[in-house]
Amino acid sequence: MAIPTAELHVHLEGTLEPELIYQLAERNRVELPWAGIEDLRTRYDFTGLQHFLDLYYANMAVLRTEEDFADLTRAYLARAVRAGVRHTELFLDLQAHTGRGVPAEVVLRGVDDALGASEAEYGVSSGLIITLLRHLPGEAATEALREALEVDVRLLGVGLCSAETGSARPFREAFELAAAHGLHRVAHAGEEGPAANVTEVLDVLGAERVDHGIRALEDDAVVERLAAGRVPLTMCPLSNVRLQVVGSLDAYPLRELTDRGVLVTLNSDDPAYFGGYVDDVYRETAAALGLGTQELAALARNSMEASFVSEVRRAELVAEVDAWEAGLREA
Ligand code: ADE
Ligand code: ZN
Repeated sequence: MAIPTAELHVHLEGTLEPELIYQLAERNRVELPWAGIEDLRTRYDFTGLQHFLDLYYANMAVLRTEEDFADLTRAYLARAVRAGVRHTELFLDLQAHTGRGVPAEVVLRGVDDALGASEAEYGVSSGLIITLLRHLPGEAATEALREALEVDVRLLGVGLCSAETGSARPFREAFELAAAHGLHRVAHAGEEGPAANVTEVLDVLGAERVDHGIRALEDDAVVERLAAGRVPLTMCPLSNVRLQVVGSLDAYPLRELTDRGVLVTLNSDDPAYFGGYVDDVYRETAAALGLGTQELAALARNSMEASFVSEVRRAELVAEVDAWEAGLREA
C-alpha cells in the first residue's frame, strides 16, 4: 500500500500525459507538430528549466474547454489516489490559459468541479493555488489574480513559478492582494536561482512555504532561517534530476537538510514530464538514499504539517500515516 501523503507541489498542467495531449488535440482539432506520442516523448530529455518550460507551455494548447480542464483534473486525481495522495494543494498556471484566450472562468470551473467531485468519490481533500508566472510582468499577475477572485470557486492560495530570473519584487502587489483575501502564499525559489531568491520570497512576498529551495544549501544563514522558522520546503527530487539541478538522485541533499532541522516534503512537480508521480518519488528517493520506513513516515508527516489543512483534517491525515507505519511493523 502506498504511503499516505499530502501533495503540496504539483502543477496540474504538469500532469498532462502525452496520451491525453493527443486525445484533447483530436477533440479540439488542434494540430500538433509531432509525429505522434512516441515522437513527443523523445522531447522529454531536458537540458534545464527553460527547455522544459518551452514544451510544457506549448503542450497546453490542447486545453480549451471546461471539460478539458475537468478531464485533466480527474485524470490527475485518479492517479494520485493510487499514489497514496490523501490531500492535494494543486498549482494552476492560470495565466498560461487566459493568455491564450481561454477565460479564467472556464479554467477555474472545470478544475473546481473535478476537485469537488473527488472529495466525494475518493475522500481526497484538496485546495487550488493560483501560480503566477514570473516571466510575465507583476501587473499581469495582479490582474490574473483579480480575475480569479471574481470567479465563484474555492481558492486556497497564490504561488509564483516559471523561469526563476529577475526579482520577485514586481509580484509583491499580487501577494498582498492574496493576503488581503485570506489566501495562503507560496513561491518557487532556489530551484535554478540562488539562495538569495529564497530570502527574497520570504521577505518580499511573505511566502509561507518555499517550492524547491534546494539552493538554500549554498548559504548557511538561509538554511538556518528556514529551520528556525519551520518554513517548509516542497522538494521534488525527480524534477531536480531531470532538469539538471542536481547530478543524480544518490547525491540528493535530503538528509543534509533534515539533519539541519529543515522541514522537507517530497513532491512530484510535473509528473507527466519527470518520470513519476509522488509514490514513484518516495520509492525512488528511498532506494537511492537508503531511506527506511521511519524516515519515509516522517517525510509523510512533514507533508501534513506543511499543508494548509485544518487541525482536525491534519490529525486524520497523520493517523493514516501512523496506521501505515504500524501495518508495516506487523507485516
Ligand atoms: N512550472 C512548472 N514546473 C515548474 C518548475 N519546476 N519550476 C518553475 N516553474 C514551473
Ligand atoms: Zn514546480
